[in-house]
Amino acid sequence: MTRIRAARRAAATLVVAVAIVAPSLPSTAGAAGQQVSPSPGAPGVGDRLYPRLGNGGYDALHYSLRLRYATRSPAQAVQGTVRMVARSTKALSRFNLDFGGTRVGRVLVDGRAARAVRVGEELVVTPARAIAEGAPFVVVVRRFRATPTTPDPFQPSSTSFFSTRDGSATAGQPDGMHDVFPSNDHPRDKAAFAFRIDVPRGTTAVANGVLTGVQPRGRRTVFTYRQQQPMATELTQVAVGAFRVVRRDPVDGVRVRDVVPRRLVAAYDRRLAVERQQLRWMRERVGDYPFDTYGSLLVDTNLGFALETQTLSLFDTQLFRQPRAGWEPVMLHELAHQWFGNSVSPRQWSDVWVNEGHATWYELSYAADRGQLRGHTGGFRTVEGTMRRVYEGSDFLRSEFGPVARPRSGDELFNPHVYYGGALALFALRQQVGVGAFRRIEQEWVRRYQGRSASTRDFIRLSSEVSGQPLDRFLTAWLYGSTTPPMPGRPNWQASPARASLRGSSGSALDALRGLPLLHRHGG
Ligand code: ARG
Ligand code: ZN
Repeated sequence: MTRIRAARRAAATLVVAVAIVAPSLPSTAGAAGQQVSPSPGAPGVGDRLYPRLGNGGYDALHYSLRLRYATRSPAQAVQGTVRMVARSTKALSRFNLDFGGTRVGRVLVDGRAARAVRVGEELVVTPARAIAEGAPFVVVVRRFRATPTTPDPFQPSSTSFFSTRDGSATAGQPDGMHDVFPSNDHPRDKAAFAFRIDVPRGTTAVANGVLTGVQPRGRRTVFTYRQQQPMATELTQVAVGAFRVVRRDPVDGVRVRDVVPRRLVAAYDRRLAVERQQLRWMRERVGDYPFDTYGSLLVDTNLGFALETQTLSLFDTQLFRQPRAGWEPVMLHELAHQWFGNSVSPRQWSDVWVNEGHATWYELSYAADRGQLRGHTGGFRTVEGTMRRVYEGSDFLRSEFGPVARPRSGDELFNPHVYYGGALALFALRQQVGVGAFRRIEQEWVRRYQGRSASTRDFIRLSSEVSGQPLDRFLTAWLYGSTTPPMPGRPNWQASPARASLRGSSGSALDALRGLPLLHRHGG
């Protein structure tokens, strides 16, 4: 447990204590007309791995983020105001936002000053008047401040808001975006976003979605962006600094732009352009791209991972220096997340295999299609050969990291089993239902749950429905079992029970996947 997480847990205990001593407030009329007495919203959505992430009692519908970067210094703090439009799901005497940044100013609810107390990473807001069940309300948090850090690839919390020599950017997944702005920071509560970013003239500001304006204001410039399809807070991207926006020809009506440090545009222009044909490759397989724009944000540092920030995937320059992990399949991986993980978000973080299993599946399939699989995986010629290797290590991976859909802890959420065990479960499903039905399941998943959050159970149900086969027991064993089920059609595949032999000489759990790229920490 990191020190930050220990502090978060202690803080959460305090919030519970506050809840117990809170005075009761006057009753308001409930949805059915009966009197319901308002009570505090929960300090978390009830995520198994991150109990305090997100908040209960309301549904965020829209965030307007106004951000000001005072100077050109890449490492400067940002100051901002957030306006959240929400709807209550119960009568609320009080509710929480998540916030772990440097400071906050005044808080208003429906235009009136509200009491706001910071308790650990919770901002506990008591409005002047209780909020009735089902009522829309507007929360404004003024003058919050967040300070970027230097990324450390071995310290995941160091990258939520980070700076490089060119400027700053964000990588909040899974539980760090509220270090930057107050929000309901859980992918179960998605919302539309508008950004207004005020920077010194000559500085570039980009965010998720489409550019809606660039206004010169004396010595400063104001950039505005809109992300109209619902977005999970963890996928927010705000990059500010000496970047150039490189516009490319649209692909099937999708606008394409990359964001690259000015001094690196020439060096990376040709490589990043591969995303245009990758967009076509994905569309042929799973259907229309779910957003208005796509592109890559390049940062000159070593984050240790790439990230699917919505409509603008984040890549570090370290990725392009990896001798083994091919950057093209990694770019495809982040693109695949725009469907799997972004448009369709996890209902809770234990469902993250749905994101990573699919992204890994398409990454490997793409690498095979492009003749890059051998280089990318350190020797495997086919996707099936790769899957067989994962199968052999699968019992071991389950015992190390937990079942595919029940990772052991939030500290190891992006563990190799979630990626490769997730892809292996999809391979097993494909073996079971056939290639045609598998493709129909994939397409129906992204169509039916577009813009929403969905669970592992939803995936199992949809797979059964689309294939016409009862898959409940089959997929439950693959996703929740502590041992690896037999692979349909491959009776001689064996999951090695010999833990010790898989540990290899270095004794590392990752030896079970010898040779395979580990995207969650490609720089490690
Ligand atoms: N979702 C990212 C990917 O697979 C991985 C992010 C890992 N995050 C982290 N903080 N290490 O592409
Ligand atoms: Zn991924």
